[in-house]
Amino acid sequence: MPLATVSDWRAAARRRLPRFAFDYLEGGAEDGRAMARNESAFGRIGFVPRSLVDVANVDMTATLYGQQLAMPVAVGPTGLNGLYRPQAEEKLARAAGRAGLPFVLSTASTSRIESVRAAACGPLWLQLYVQNDRRIAERWMAKARSCGFSVLLITVDTPVAGTRDHYRRNGFTLPLRWTPRLLLDIARHPRWCLSTGVHGMPQMVNLADCSEQRADITTQAATMAQEMNRSLTWTDLAWLRRHWNGPVVVKGIGCVDDARLARQYGADGIVLSNHGGRQLEDAPTAIELLAAVVDAVGGSMPVLMDGGIRRGSAVAKAVALGASGVLLGRAPLYGLAAGDEAGAEEVLAILRRELEVTLRLLGRPVLRELGRSDVTRI
Ligand code: FNR
Repeated sequence: MPLATVSDWRAAARRRLPRFAFDYLEGGAEDGRAMARNESAFGRIGFVPRSLVDVANVDMTATLYGQQLAMPVAVGPTGLNGLYRPQAEEKLARAAGRAGLPFVLSTASTSRIESVRAAACGPLWLQLYVQNDRRIAERWMAKARSCGFSVLLITVDTPVAGTRDHYRRNGFTLPLRWTPRLLLDIARHPRWCLSTGVHGMPQMVNLADCSEQRADITTQAATMAQEMNRSLTWTDLAWLRRHWNGPVVVKGIGCVDDARLARQYGADGIVLSNHGGRQLEDAPTAIELLAAVVDAVGGSMPVLMDGGIRRGSAVAKAVALGASGVLLGRAPLYGLAAGDEAGAEEVLAILRRELEVTLRLLGRPVLRELGRSDVTRI
């Protein structure tokens, strides 16, 4: 059956992946309320359609940090993508580039930065988690700069990993412990088993390289979890500036005051995000926070958002409420997991087609001209 929507791709990903891997991709923190609200909040925003407008030509293009994009959308940073497919980040970077969108490489990525560089055909951005040993972050940034990465996203909503009950339920640990339950889970998914068997379990290769540790996932997982720098504060943006000569964007802003602080400390942009509902349960959703943040800081720097984008219309709503752009988390991963690189490309194409139809039906053919009068609370 052809897969028509992002939701169809999600269902296909669920069928292909072992449960522990799908739950890692999909799972939110605690009872999943923040994650669910990310999506449902879009349903409370209605459109104000205009008729008899010339919509023969639609313009969805955007410029972000000097880069011309096909849409104001980036494939956002997600860790451990190698759980779904080998060479996952090379494939995502290519899919993003072909769609005219940037790709953001996570600190917890499983493909070497150099091979992502070689595979990519579009803008590359870098996501940073800072560990106690700051030399790891400094090496990561230096490497990325030499590979032509242009924009740095520092993620600030993750001093610890959120409470993800499914890890414990599924026995998901790094390294994987081969419990009978896990072995049964894997045995039930022979296609996944075959491709992972041939290519081996993914490793956080970049973290290993930058920390000069062996590429052994036990050491890497310990580094990620225990060594996450929990004393990072706003003044550390100055340290980042010394090591990054491009735009520095703070990802994981969850209130208006922090948006103001980001501006005050010299950030070049922010991403409103609750990390896909994977961190603080009942954290605000970015789409609900957006208008207030744009009112507070919008004129001074790009305000991006993420969380719950599963339809092209969601991009239109975010732009109407003042977002300069949106990041995708799970959506392209569903495509990758179920359909490999072509699946990731198809998910991006679905969102594009839906956005184009939305703009025509809305009678607002130029995406960047959308404003608050185009949407209404329903
Ligand atoms: C994430 N996210 C994330 N963010 C980040 O800054 N660094 C990371 O390594 C990860 N890893 C990660 C893994 C997985 C499996 C998911 C689903 C998410 C958060 C991500 O960048 C983004 O904020 C959310 O995923 C956006 O929500 P949606 O689009 O998934 O609803």
